[in-house]
Parts: sequence; C-alpha cells; structure tokens
Amino acid sequence: MKRSHHCNQLTVDDIGTEVRLIGWVHAIRDHGGLFFIDLRDREGITQLVFDPSNDRLQAVHSLRDESVIEVCGTVSKRPPDTVNGKITTGAIEVVVDELIIHNICDVLPFPMSDLKIDSVSEDLRLTYRYLDLRRPKSFHRLQIRHRTVCAVRNYLDENGFLEIETPYLFKTTPEGAREFLVPSRLNPGCVYALAQSPQQYKQMLMVAGVERYYSLARCFRDEDLRADRQPEFTQIDLEMSFVDREDIYSLVEGMLQNIWKATRNVTIETPFPRLSFRNAMDRFGSDKPDTRFAMEIHDFSGLFESSSFNVFSSTIKNGGCVKAFNAKSLAEISQGEMKNLEDIAKTLGAKGLAYIKIENGQWKSPILKFLSDGEKAVLAKELDMTENDIIFFAADGWEQACTILGRIRLECRDLAVAKGKMVFPGDQFNFLWVIDFPLMTFDGQQGRFVATHHPFTAPVPEDMELLESAPQDVRGQHYDIVLNGMELGGGSVRIHQPQLQEYVFKEILKIPENVVNDRFGYMLKAFKLGAPPHGGIALGLDRLVALLCGITSIRDVIAFPKTQRGIDLMSQSPCPASDKQLRELHIKMTVDGGSKK
Ligand code: AMO
Ligand code: AMP
Repeated sequence: MKRSHHCNQLTVDDIGTEVRLIGWVHAIRDHGGLFFIDLRDREGITQLVFDPSNDRLQAVHSLRDESVIEVCGTVSKRPPDTVNGKITTGAIEVVVDELIIHNICDVLPFPMSDLKIDSVSEDLRLTYRYLDLRRPKSFHRLQIRHRTVCAVRNYLDENGFLEIETPYLFKTTPEGAREFLVPSRLNPGCVYALAQSPQQYKQMLMVAGVERYYSLARCFRDEDLRADRQPEFTQIDLEMSFVDREDIYSLVEGMLQNIWKATRNVTIETPFPRLSFRNAMDRFGSDKPDTRFAMEIHDFSGLFESSSFNVFSSTIKNGGCVKAFNAKSLAEISQGEMKNLEDIAKTLGAKGLAYIKIENGQWKSPILKFLSDGEKAVLAKELDMTENDIIFFAADGWEQACTILGRIRLECRDLAVAKGKMVFPGDQFNFLWVIDFPLMTFDGQQGRFVATHHPFTAPVPEDMELLESAPQDVRGQHYDIVLNGMELGGGSVRIHQPQLQEYVFKEILKIPENVVNDRFGYMLKAFKLGAPPHGGIALGLDRLVALLCGITSIRDVIAFPKTQRGIDLMSQSPCPASDKQLRELHIKMTVDGGSKK
C-alpha cells in the first residue's frame, strides 16, 4: 500500500510518528505563512500543514479542491485552540515534508460540500456521478448496501440456502411487466427478453431438488419510472420447497431482523402484524399501508343510505359506498392546498372531494346543508371530530373510494409533516404483512381476469371450490411485506400441480392454448416430472436500503441509476446502434415513421 494510515486513523497516540497519507484535497486554507489542507479519503479527514517556504513543497500552490495527493510527514499535536472535537483526527495534524501530486483537479462542475449539494440539480449530479458518489454521505449509503448484502448472504447461508445464478437472457413471457428485448444474432428473427425476475428459473430449481435457493438478482422491467422504480433493480430472491406461508413469514422476519441489527443496530420486533388486503384497503385505502399514523378511513354507507344528500345516497343505491377519514388538525390548509387535494382525487377518478372542517367551534362545509343532525352526530363521534379537524369523503365504488381516500390520507400526512404537526422518528420501522389478496383481478380493459401477483400463485385451499364459480372471490396464497408505506417485497406459495396450473392459464386467465404451450409448455412438463410443493418471495434490495438510509428515492442507493426517462446521464446511454451492428442482428430500424435515430 502507498499509505501507512487512512485519513480517519491518527490520534494523539501517534504524535511523532512518520506517516504517509493519500487522498483528495477536501479544503485548502492559505494562512499566509502556512498552508492548511484537509485531506480526505473514504474513511475521513486529516489536517495537513505545509510550510510553503520549504522548496520541496512549492507545488502546494498549484493544488485545487479534489486534487489527488500523497504526502509524507510527522504527526504533531494541534495547538489547543485549534482542536476540532467533531472529527476523530481533530487533536492532531500532519506536518508535511514531501508532496506528490497524482492528479490536479479541473474546475469542479458543482460544489461538493454537503451544505451546497442540495441546490445542485440531480441531472448534473448524475452526469458526474463519480463526483456525487465521492461525497462521504454517498459512500456511507454504499456501505449500508454492502452490509445489507453481507447480512443477507450470512443469514441465508446459515439457513441452508444455496446462492445460484440464473440467466438474464430469458424467454419473453406474457402476463408480467413490459420487457426489454434483445435480438439474437445467431437466431435471426428471434429475441430474448431480459428477465423480469428469476421466477420461472427458481421454480425449476425447486423441481431440480435444490430445496433452498437464493440470489441477489438483477431484474429488468420496461415500466414507467418513479422514485421507487428503476428499469433495472435488484431483488433478494428466494425460493423454498416443502414449506407453507408461515415458514416464509418467519424466515423473512429473521432475515430483516439480522439486516436491521447489522446495519442500524436496531432490534426490530417480530412477528410482524398481518392485515388482510380487504382490511388494509378499508382502513388505509392502500395495499401498502403506512401504519405510522392514524387518520384511519371509516365506512358510512349505512349512515348515508337514505341521506338527503343525493350524491351519497345514490352512490350507495348503485352498489357503491361512502367513506371518510379525519385529517386531524389540518383544517387550516390553504385554498391552494385544498385545490391540489381535489385535483389529485380527480386524477384518480373522483367526482369530488367533499369535506367538513371545524373552525372556532363551527362546522364548515359545502355539503352541510344536506346533512341531518343525526348524521352529523354519528360522524362527529365515529371520527372523533374536534376543533381544527377536517374530514374528507369519497362516494364511489368500494375500491375507488378506498384508493382515493388512501391517496388523500398520504397527502395529508405529508402536509402534516411539512407543517410540523407530525414527526416520524428516524428509527420507526412499521413492518407488516398484507395477506389474503384476491388471486385474480378483473381487468375491464382486457375484459378478462389477470393474476394479482403472478399466474404461478396458488389459491388458498379453502377457496379452491370457488375457482370455477366465482374466481373473483378466490384468495391467493400471496403475501406482500410492507414497511412504512412502501412495498418491500412480495411472494407466494406456488401452484405445483400441472392440471391446476394449466387450468389457471387457460380457463381463468384465458391465455390461448398455443401461447400456453409455447411460453409455459416446459413448465407444465416439469410439473409432471416430480415437482415438490414450493413457495418463495422477492424483496426489493434498492427499496430496502433506501428505507434503511431513511430516504425515499432508490436512485440514491444505486451506484449508477437511470433517470425517470431511463437514461444513464454519465455514459449517455441508450444511444443509437451502428448500421453494422444492426445488420449483424438482422434488424432494420425505423423510428417515428421512417427517420432513423
Ligand atoms: P414483484 O414483482 O412483486 O415479485 O417484485 C418484488 C419486489 O421487487 C421490487 N421491485 C422494484 N424495485 C425497484 N424498481 C422496480 N421497477 C421494481 N419492481 C419491483 C419491489 C417488489 O416488492 N418473482 C416475484 C417474487 C416472487 O413471487 O417470489 C416478483 O418479482 O420491492
Ligand atoms: P355537488 O352537489 O356536486 O356540488 O357536490 C357537493 C360537494 O360534494 C362538493 O364539495 C363535491 O366536491 C363533493 N362531491 C361530489 N361528488 C362526490 C363524490 N363522489 N365523493 C365525494 N365527494 C363528492
């Protein structure tokens, strides 16, 4: 090693020692007679002192922030009034007698200090991602990610799992997310799809008798991107044979406990609470409820069945429901904020967002005139309405009413946090399992059922008899794990009987026979050749690490993420392919009606 110590190592115990340090120039202070440089490496900072009258140190004048230097010098005690108690090395400095410059840094594209970084656009930071990553905060996140991965590997190894890689170049399959396609040069006209997940391979590993598989699998999905979605992301993916749902819950709870202990030294309590999908929707308006705060949704369909407010009573007569929640102490929201909430509700298909607020002991609402005293009394009691509260209503079909209020509830959470009325401690981790999802959901656009999780999910045994007569009422053996309102992972016990799998493909999902044979034929065959009962789960590693770091954007915990438009700004990908490459792939490219890009 070129260095004798790293920059967070030297203390008063090292005074008088000759040392060699190497790193980046973090800050330069020219005090006339003396030059002070904070030298930084990934571990920390050490103060260097240069006497510019020393001929061998003349080059110090040419240094700029973020230049890379190597120095040799002697550890010395700092004068008492210059001791910096905030850093490990704050009591010493290194008096330099040799300077080697490895790299002079040009003018930086943006200031790298933590204080100024927030005003730098994310696009600029992503263009110079290596500079952004060089910041101690970014390095710390990479470290947490690494520790997470180590904890996962140790835990799963101790529990008998084998880490096995599965192909990224896979077969295009219907029913999942949109795929990235890769043309095959050796097989003209044919494509691979980049695997959305190792789902089918891991099931084949169970048929292969592996019993316990895991991998830290890169997955590829050509979806619309958001703060918690990237086109390529990593799953902690696992599958087990001879298990039921309970086995998977306790295995995953143990794994998360180990991760939290290893990375945050926090002991999380297990077992995690469980909530049925129906209950989660009813109470929180979401299948990934944030249970760190109340504002629970109540159903008032009984109350308003024969209300004189026609919007409510007619919705109920038509099979819908009326729901409301109390956004405690938010009556003061501005007109602009209210308009924003209404607009959000409307984008979700709401016809309106009725509200009642209590200010100075007065109920205020555009719908007050329609409500009877009896109705008001029930609302006040059930929703615990007091001064400065505001309640919001949705009158709609069940799922829509839940979804609208669920979203408004989250907006109210954010407003309450912004106004200082709600504070979440950094170490509050509300894990929960959401279970008993419907196996299938009817897709109005396609006019057929689609799998709620994926088509390999087994029905709950008690509901099997409904499969033919009322598929919408069949629950799946599917579970999602949720943390602070984010879906962390999902999985299921799988179908392993070929007849049932074939029935689900053909009779319920209505996938044409030739497509079933072509895309899933090998799987149906495998299930006829000794398939064990099995199940598994995948947790989004990027989301998990983001939550561990207390941040919401997974871009901040991925070394080289893509923008919302799927672009890697640093390397400028994607980019056009050359004619030669396209020819080799037997592809003719036409874009936007003929103009090649
Ligand atoms: P699922 O599709 O629910 O299940 O994915 C599992 C978890 O992966 C994470 N995730 C994502 N993270 C970042 N960007 C994305 N675009 C993205 N999409 C998903 C989420 C999610 O909960 N094969 C099944 C698992 C199984 O059944 O075992 C699967 O992939 O945290
Ligand atoms: P209207 O009588 O249509 O003016 O509606 C009166 C109030 O009820 C307005 O504040 C609307 O935003 C609200 N409203 C209308 N339809 C609904 C609905 N389906 N759910 C909730 N609020 C609604």
